[in-house]
Amino acid sequence: MLPVILAGLIAQSIIPALGASAAHPHQDVLNAPPPGFSYRIPQGTHPWTSSAAVKTNKHKHSENVQKIRAFRGGKTNARSVAAVLGAHQRQVGGFGYQNISTTTSYGTQYAAEVTWHRQNLWLLLDTGSSDTWAVRENFKCIDYSGQVVSQGACGFGPTYRSGFQYGHVTPEQHMFIQYGDGEIVTGPMGLSDITVANITVSMQEVCLANATYWYGNNLTSGLLGLAYPSLTNAYLGSSVDHDFNTQVEYSPLFTTMVDQGLVPPIFSVAIDRNSSTGMLAWGGIAPATGADFSQVATLDLIITNLIDLPATAYEYSFYTIIPDSWQYDSVSDTRKLPYIVDSGTTLCYLPPQIAEAINNAFQPAAVYLWMYGAFFTSCNATPPRISVKLGGINFYFNPVDLIYRNMVDPLTGMCMTAIASGGSGPFILGDAFMQNAVAVFDVGEAKMRFVPREFY
Ligand SMILES: *[C@@H]1O[C@H](CO)[C@@H](O)[C@H](O)[C@H]1NC(C)=O
Ligand SMILES: *[C@@H]1O[C@H](CO)[C@@H](O)[C@H](O)[C@H]1NC(C)=O
Ligand SMILES: *[C@@H]1O[C@H](CO)[C@@H](O)[C@H](O)[C@H]1NC(C)=O
Ligand SMILES: *[C@@H]1O[C@H](CO)[C@@H](O)[C@H](O)[C@H]1NC(C)=O
Ligand SMILES: *[C@@H]1O[C@H](CO)[C@@H](O)[C@H](O)[C@H]1NC(C)=O
Repeated sequence: MLPVILAGLIAQSIIPALGASAAHPHQDVLNAPPPGFSYRIPQGTHPWTSSAAVKTNKHKHSENVQKIRAFRGGKTNARSVAAVLGAHQRQVGGFGYQNISTTTSYGTQYAAEVTWHRQNLWLLLDTGSSDTWAVRENFKCIDYSGQVVSQGACGFGPTYRSGFQYGHVTPEQHMFIQYGDGEIVTGPMGLSDITVANITVSMQEVCLANATYWYGNNLTSGLLGLAYPSLTNAYLGSSVDHDFNTQVEYSPLFTTMVDQGLVPPIFSVAIDRNSSTGMLAWGGIAPATGADFSQVATLDLIITNLIDLPATAYEYSFYTIIPDSWQYDSVSDTRKLPYIVDSGTTLCYLPPQIAEAINNAFQPAAVYLWMYGAFFTSCNATPPRISVKLGGINFYFNPVDLIYRNMVDPLTGMCMTAIASGGSGPFILGDAFMQNAVAVFDVGEAKMRFVPREFY
């Protein structure tokens, strides 16, 4: 499936260690990941400044906020965590995500506007990878068979029209990244000023992609990676080496922003139910309708890695937490299991027994349709009262988020529910959860924090 022209370039990749692991209260769970995955406990990137930042920012909105724009549906959502896990599990085994269909993986991707030196571009936000790149004019679009095809086939928005503002990184470096669904992007690395939400990061190391295998949405021109800082994909030289010996770590956009003293080491995201926007705040808390700042849940951050296979170069990691429990009607399930937090995945994926029990508690009960890998019930069904407890605080699901009235099975006329089975895991807290919380990524302290939102 890999483009031939690029497949030869892929050497076994190395996921850099994320630092010494402090013992986690649920270390036993982390020691027994599902096949093809590993869990790591990261160290905070800026632990001292972060404590102070959270104390002073907890009840304060960031001044550096930008609207993010949503893109829904189709092949362009191949980067939703559910879709990535599906692609991965088809190769390494495990079960739960193989059967997700285009309907089920109908996720939402968010993009933010960035000023790249002098040109404004929309870049996809990605909390699963760490590199920031844009396509430059004259890039080569490569299809699945390795043929160079028209640029339009890669589906990018406007291309970047000039070179690096401050030239190449010396010694010369290039980026090579293969995303979980097979998309590949490569090109030289250099230094340019990048501005987001009125914050200008000077001389940021970025890539101007000159060869891509990509399924774009025809509007975004690249990607802004917000994953853990040590998971960057730069290699020495302008050649085509992508192995451990030539890999060099560099400071990704958000880390540089913090190091340049521009913002505290946290960012946060609030997404809105079926609107085409959300909010991204750099260095503080995103404003959100209904946010109740009297409660802030704090959880240890875990990183889930896809374990790379020989001859692939997966470099994908996910922000992960362990909830205290799930409640539905009067039932409580206190098993401790890791969940990936992802605004790009529509549904929530739970362990099979809880997913079934919750779907059974809809009136009428929802039934599993294997064609979709999801549960369906009457579009007018009454959902149970569902909450997930995080850091001691209950986050309730809004009933309007539990039945997708626009995802109807044409045969039965039934609507999809928001609770799906994640098989052998890892599990996912997707949009149905994210719409009811402000998610704060405290990379400084290696914590995830959540602020509940009252139903709005
Ligand atoms: C892309 O840039 C690299 C330098 O990083 C260069 O070696 C390569 O030939 C370029 N490829 C194309 C298709 O322009
Ligand atoms: C951007 O920042 C500058 C100073 O840093 C300030 O004068 C200006 O008002 C800000 N603009 C916006 C839109 O916040
Ligand atoms: C992008 O545009 C091309 C034609 O230029 C079209 O075939 C493709 O479906 C479009 N993709 C999306 C996601 O809209
Ligand atoms: C996945 O789909 C296959 C048919 O393509 C079906 O036989 C199987 O039962 C499905 N698995 C699950 C877990 O739904
Ligand atoms: C948003 O979704 C809810 C629940 O599906 C629906 O009742 C409402 O009409 C939708 N609003 C818009 C503006 O689409």
